[in-house]
Amino acid sequence: MSDGVLDRRESYEVDSLGLFEVIGNSVAIFERARAGAGTVDLVWPQEAIQNVAIAGMGGSGIAGDLAVGVWRERLRHPVSVLRDYYVPGWVGENTLVILSSYSGETEETLTVASQATERNAPCVAITSGGKLGTFYRDMGVPVIDLPAGLQPRAAILELLVPLAVVLGRMGVIAPPDAELDDARQVLVDSVDVLGPAIPTDQNLAKQVALGLLDSVPVIWGAETTAAIAQRWKCQINENAELPAYWAVLPEADHNEICAYGDPSTVGRMTQMVLLRDPHHHRQVQRRIELTRELIAPALGGVLELAADGNTPFGRMLDLVMLGDYVSLYMAIARGVDPGPVDMIGRLKLRLAETGYGRTPDPV
Ligand code: F6R
Repeated sequence: MSDGVLDRRESYEVDSLGLFEVIGNSVAIFERARAGAGTVDLVWPQEAIQNVAIAGMGGSGIAGDLAVGVWRERLRHPVSVLRDYYVPGWVGENTLVILSSYSGETEETLTVASQATERNAPCVAITSGGKLGTFYRDMGVPVIDLPAGLQPRAAILELLVPLAVVLGRMGVIAPPDAELDDARQVLVDSVDVLGPAIPTDQNLAKQVALGLLDSVPVIWGAETTAAIAQRWKCQINENAELPAYWAVLPEADHNEICAYGDPSTVGRMTQMVLLRDPHHHRQVQRRIELTRELIAPALGGVLELAADGNTPFGRMLDLVMLGDYVSLYMAIARGVDPGPVDMIGRLKLRLAETGYGRTPDPV
């Protein structure tokens, strides 16, 4: 299965930004993020909040999707994740707007920030600085400061943990302390069993990475694992610099399933990864089994991975850590530096040439 590439220390020299070091420090990062988020001054009474908008893109936006995925059934208020330039009409004085941008320089998020301010919405920023940090600090808006110098997607715990803490402190979810304790333990275990020092024959992440390498990974999630499927897809795109796609059940059973009815050349190039949670709705469990039975003959392979953990937040992080390691190992196996994301940077530079003021309404 492997020529041992993932078990040779020198293979990791390509990791110029130290992403393996960051993921290996997950427990310390988690603890720091949890402590930091508890100290920020949130001045509004819980009763003032009727709904929540979390604005963020890419590695910063996924924190919002993951949080909504974890607490979906237990949210006390509607929570939407905003991933473009406009805020919906319902955002106003009773909307908690959380601006999640690691760099603080992302134009979609900055545009939402200025519209939220115009609407007098209570805002909190989670950022390492940039224009977002400066803009809000000057206005006296609470800013949760993140340490600078990381890749946004590698700062997932820095972004996600404060988000959970803020949602708890504002009464959007019940206090998440027990879930955070569980998550910490999940991180300890993940780093222990998935890290580079664990050889391929005992390391699930290395095995999955090698199995996905020469195919097009299609990651399917459902309910609590939907956003995790998206995270896997994005991490494979950005770390391994490979195509990958994601979809969600039950929806995919109403359309995408048709792509895998009969064998095709593209179908055979596809490796399906099904991300399961033991707590899925009974019918979702059944769907996964039936769907797998129906589509497997048309696919290159199907792999099921089940989340482990005692709470929804812990189980989510279990699969996120696995996917993060898988994508990093895919990069190493290809000899690709997992850190830089030149394509994203090039596009952002080109866009910045035109500025990002609001487009005038069509007349
Ligand atoms: C890069 C990455 C990107 C960024 C996105 C938004 O590591 O993950 O997806 O997250 O371009 O930038 P930030 O997170 O700085 O707002």
